[in-house]
Parts: sequence; C-alpha cells; structure tokens
Amino acid sequence: DGYSAQKLFHQGYSYTYDDVIFLPGYIGFPVEQVDLSTKLTRNISLNIPCVSSPMDTVTESSMARAMAALGGIGIIHANIPPSDQASLVKAAKSSRFPVLSNPVFRSPSDSIISLEYFADAPCILVIDSGDCRGKLLGYVTKSGWMNLTDKETRLANYMVKSSDFAPWDCDLAKMICYFEEKAGNEFTPIVKGGEIVDVAGREDVERLRGYPRLVGGGSVDANGEWMVGAAIGTREADKERLQHLIKAGVNVVVLDSSQGNSLYQIDMIKYVKKTYPELDVIGGNVVTMYQADNLIKAGVDGLRVGMGSGSICTTQEVCAVGRGQATAVYKVSSLASQYGVPVIADGGISNSGHIVKALSLGASTVMMGSFLAGSAEAPGAYYCLSDGRRLKKYRGMGSLEAMTKGSDARYLGDTSKLKIAQGVVGAVADKGSVLKFVPYTMQAVKQGFQDLGAQSLKDAHDMTKTTLRLEVRTGAAQVEGGVHGLVSFEKKPF
Ligand code: XMP
Repeated sequence: DGYSAQKLFHQGYSYTYDDVIFLPGYIGFPVEQVDLSTKLTRNISLNIPCVSSPMDTVTESSMARAMAALGGIGIIHANIPPSDQASLVKAAKSSRFPVLSNPVFRSPSDSIISLEYFADAPCILVIDSGDCRGKLLGYVTKSGWMNLTDKETRLANYMVKSSDFAPWDCDLAKMICYFEEKAGNEFTPIVKGGEIVDVAGREDVERLRGYPRLVGGGSVDANGEWMVGAAIGTREADKERLQHLIKAGVNVVVLDSSQGNSLYQIDMIKYVKKTYPELDVIGGNVVTMYQADNLIKAGVDGLRVGMGSGSICTTQEVCAVGRGQATAVYKVSSLASQYGVPVIADGGISNSGHIVKALSLGASTVMMGSFLAGSAEAPGAYYCLSDGRRLKKYRGMGSLEAMTKGSDARYLGDTSKLKIAQGVVGAVADKGSVLKFVPYTMQAVKQGFQDLGAQSLKDAHDMTKTTLRLEVRTGAAQVEGGVHGLVSFEKKPF
C-alpha cells in the first residue's frame, strides 16, 4: 500500500511538502512519549527541532533568546556591521530570562520630561551614574510617569526606591520565585559581571507562566548561557566578522549562501575548521547530493537544505535553479546521514504538517522565516491596517530593499555590480509570542509523529528508510486535504 520514499523520490519529479502525504502507521504509545530532541550539527543538540532564519526581519537578540529558551536556536543575521551583529549575540546571551527588554538608564537628577524619548520603555532604571555600570537607585514605571502632570519632577523624587537585582542566570523558574519573594517590586534589573544587562518585569513573568511549558528545557551551552548562532559570508571580511562573533560567545556559524557548493564556501569551511576547531560550521544552501558531498568533504558539521522554497524567494524564477523542498530534503538527508551530518530543512514551512514531513524525510531540524516573522520577538514594529489587523514586515534577504542594506553577499557574486533581486518584500500577520505558539506547534508535530508510529526523530528517519509509505497528492486531493466547502460567518449588508 503506497510507495516507499526511495521509490517515490526516484521518478524524476520535484516534490514540495504539499505534493506528498504520508500513510498513517500504528499508534503504540501516548503522545507525551514522543521525543523531539535532535541535533543541529554534529556537536550541538537541541530539545526541539526549530531554528529561526538569519534574516533581518526574523532573528535578532529577542528572537535568538526566545528560540534558545524554547529549546531551539536562533541564527542572527549578518545584514549589519560585524560589531553590531556581535552585540546582538551578546545581548541574546546576556540573561537566562526568556524575554529581552533593552533597559533604559537615567540618572536621579534627570527630570520626567527627559523620559518622553522613551515612551515605549515599560520601565526606566535610575542609576547614580546614569549608565549600566553604576549603582542602582530605583526605577520609574511607564504607567506612573506618563500620568504625572509635573514633568519637571526629578527622578530622584519620583522613582520607586529599590536596589534589588537578579543575577543573569535567573531563568523563568527562578524569576517566578524572585517576584514572589519581592512582593512590592514590579521590575528587577538583571546583572552580569557588575553590569546591568537587562530588566525583567512582573507582568512578563505572569504572562510566561500562562504559556504552555516545553518539556526538556532550553538550549544552554557549557557556560550556562543560551546557545546562539550567527550567519557569516564567505568573503575575506567575514573572517574579521567571525572574530567579533567568537568574542561575543557565538556557538555555531552558518555560511549564508543561496548556492553553497562553491569554491568560496569550501575555502571558508576549511578556514573556520582550521582556525576554530571547537566551532561548528553549517554549510549550504544545497539541494542535491552532489552539492552536499562537496561540503561534507570540506568538513561541515551541518547542512542547510533549500533553494527557492522560501515564502519570499524568487531564486527558482530568476535563476532557473532549485528543487522542490520535499525532494531536496529527502535526497540530501539520505547522503548526509551516512556521514553523521545533520540536515536543516530551510524554507517553505507554513504549518506543523510541513515540519512533520521535513523531519520524517530526513531533516534533523527545520529553519523558519515567515512562520516566525509575525511574532512579538521578530525585529520591527507592528503596523495596523484599517480593518484592525496587525502586520509586521517580512522581506527576503535577496530583495532589493535588503540588499541595499548590505545582504548582497548571499545573492551576488563577488564582482557583481548590478543588483538582481532574488526575493521580495511583504508582510505577515501578528502571531503573538513565539514563546506561546511554538509549544503548540511542537505538540501538533508530536501528534503527527504519533500517527506515523514514530516515537523520536531517529525512529522517523529509520521508518523512512524502511516501512514508511507515501503517495503524491493530486490537485483535487490537496483541495480535499485543506478546509473546503464552508461559507463565511461574516455578515454582509444586503
Ligand atoms: P520561509 O519559507 O520560512 O523561508 O519564509 C525562509 C528561507 O528563505 C530563504 N531566503 C531567501 N531565498 N531569496 C531567496 O531565494 C531571498 O530573498 C531569500 N531570503 C531568505 C532563506 O533560506 C530563509 O531561511
């Protein structure tokens, strides 16, 4: 009944996730027993198979911190100067509290009126020196100062006096205890190495308490800090960029290229492995066994798979190269698994079913852009449409807009002067916090694994080589598999 993966993917067709469907197996265990822990690279393990994409509308410090707190990892984009990218890595790793909220520092002699520049900050920390290295005197809350009529009041006369702080390694569980003990405090600064690196608020703690918990915990490195990755290119200047990132404590680097099988990338892989033998390096992107083989021989610790499958990608139309993502993941994984190199299925994930498919077809993790770009943790502010919907900008790193800002290394050859777009700019809907919706997504993935009869990623990978059966869905079968035949509830005026 059905086809084996080996047979289905050897027919000369390029299949996307939506083209294929798995036939269910036997459920012999409860869903709680499904274990989604996995490997990002040869040496890095994760508790959930989720990676946020190195795009400037997806992964900066907040996203990287939240992804690590969830048990996955974020890869900070390289569309900024090296020192700025390193600062984002450092900020993500600076505290174990899952939420990052860049604190604002003022001195006690500043007046309330000086806070008007910081109208978005929920809390202003009052420090004797006015910066992160001084002595904490107290804080001023947004709800308080905004309503104060005498704007000339000095902060010293108005602040909530407090010299309490939490250490940087205070995770959510410890922060819950902290706020229970300090019943009068609404905020607490977080201190690392004598510096105030962040601030946590009671409201955030209460909000996080209401979110579903992930079993397995966050992704923490040997120093007890969150694991954070960063993208680099393959130019000479990227060697200097790498130095900045290493100083900031980066845990893994991704060589960010749309066609990774190149002289430049192979040289860079060898350089990184020779110069920083302890650092894992992810190569790509690749979609064929031939490309993958070259990068594996050069020494990569992980492979990023996908070309033109991303929601904002136009590479297949512009350059006539790429592959359907289901086929690409299956083919590359079947080679990479022989060498113990984990595969990241990058792009084209728009629902939990796609994640189940990517992982079952051989990937160890999925990398997501659009799926995460509408979240509170993605860079940028929401904007509102006239009908009340909230959106956030999401753009391809090969869009003209992003390349104008600097990401041309990924999409242009070294000597190219004419910029050709391989991506577009768009917007995605508000999805709330990743700390809330990713756990739900993982639960759905676990249910998919249970339906297949796979208790772990290893089980799923083994099944794909042996008993798993698949079929191609016709156009009508795809329509049938989605929501269809309903009428809208919305009342329209006659
Ligand atoms: P999703 O589908 O998750 O895809 O939004 C994210 C992935 O798309 C790739 N990417 C691009 N590909 N032109 C492309 O052809 C682009 O401008 C572009 N920007 C990002 C990238 O692999 C990312 O992880």
